[in-house]
Amino acid sequence: MKIATVVGARPQFIKAAVVSRILRLRAQEILIHTGQHYDHNMSDIFFEELEIPKPDYNLGISGGSHGQMTGAMLAAIEEVLIAEKPDALLVYGDTNSTLAAALAAVKLHIPVCHAEAGNRLGTFENPEEVNRICTDHVSTKLLACTESAMDFLAAEGLSARAELVGDPMYDAFLFYGARAGTPDRHALLGLDGKKYAIPERFYYLTCHRQENTDEEEKLVNILRAMDSLDVPTIYPVHPRNRERAAAIKEEYGLEKLLFCQPVGYLTSVALVKHAEKVVTDSGGLQREAFFAGKQCVTVFDYVVWPETMRGGRNRLAKPDAKDILAKLTAAQTVDPDYRPFGDGHAGDRIACGILSIGERKV
Ligand code: UD1
Ligand code: UDP
Repeated sequence: MKIATVVGARPQFIKAAVVSRILRLRAQEILIHTGQHYDHNMSDIFFEELEIPKPDYNLGISGGSHGQMTGAMLAAIEEVLIAEKPDALLVYGDTNSTLAAALAAVKLHIPVCHAEAGNRLGTFENPEEVNRICTDHVSTKLLACTESAMDFLAAEGLSARAELVGDPMYDAFLFYGARAGTPDRHALLGLDGKKYAIPERFYYLTCHRQENTDEEEKLVNILRAMDSLDVPTIYPVHPRNRERAAAIKEEYGLEKLLFCQPVGYLTSVALVKHAEKVVTDSGGLQREAFFAGKQCVTVFDYVVWPETMRGGRNRLAKPDAKDILAKLTAAQTVDPDYRPFGDGHAGDRIACGILSIGERKV
């Protein structure tokens, strides 16, 4: 069986690392990188560290408006699918790369398998919501990470196509987490070009959502909240807000924040495991904080991963210093037996899910 997998953004490389390893034992996989993320430390570093097979195609499409990016990807992916004639297409998550690939495939009558299906926020204000809903509705197989995602799929009449497989990010956390080692094995490259050792105690911050970074005031509030904490904060800056973050640092000082280039996955996992607490707007990082038993504050208006919220382990905060600090110091309960993200074998089930589609009769 021939499977085309489309990836484009950092979290998709991590998921593909888990699944490709298994899938390639039983099928031919064509890996298509849309090019959505392209800086070395947003793309190549993941392929190198996680030993992901080199993409068969890199379409080199990034930036522009959502429509421009998605449209250009749709046209380019269609060409590859026509040439390669795969039996099925595998996509992950909710990026523009996900939607473009799903649309290209379904219009060519190629069955689509959507891993990380079913998450819902309940608002189209969030650009990823459009991607996940459209992708789910055109997919043949919907592989969900959690029970709550299965419930959303049921509410939209999609149960017959849905299966609970667990979260491949949990597989990755277990598999590569063991290799990540302690923070002293890793160094940070500051935005100023200097190398920094990771301090003994620190908070870990990531912030890249359009909703938090388009308006400077929100980002300033988040960064000033972190600057007021007892120990330093490590802040790998997503390229989306590189310039803005540098300008804010220049204006406000923020001496307790270590602004650095995006880090590789192994460093990121080491940071999560050893941080005092995590503050983020990332879907992946809030789950990793949960996997590591760390308290997390998610600066966002909507719950994306409800399971992480139980016992106050993850709380939503507004991009407001007072709210972030209040949520960071609120009590949390950790129930070590509560494992809502599967058993670390989601990758096997995703591979089985797509293989079960079978070969096409063309
Ligand atoms: C995208 C996804 C988001 C996901 C995130 C993971 C969509 C709609 N959004 O958001 O769901 O959480 O990836 O990190 O698909 N840029 C660079 N270098 C890079 C990558 C991006 O300079 O390597 C710049 C782009 O040119 C663009 C901006 O950063 O101007 C934003 O990138 P984009 O891929 O559009 O969105 P993300 O915020 O990364
Ligand atoms: N991550 C990373 N380097 C960084 C910041 C994050 O490797 O500098 C990892 C993080 O540990 C998680 C994933 O990237 O595994 C999350 O990706 P991102 O926040 O870009 O996307 P989201 O999960 O929000 O879609």
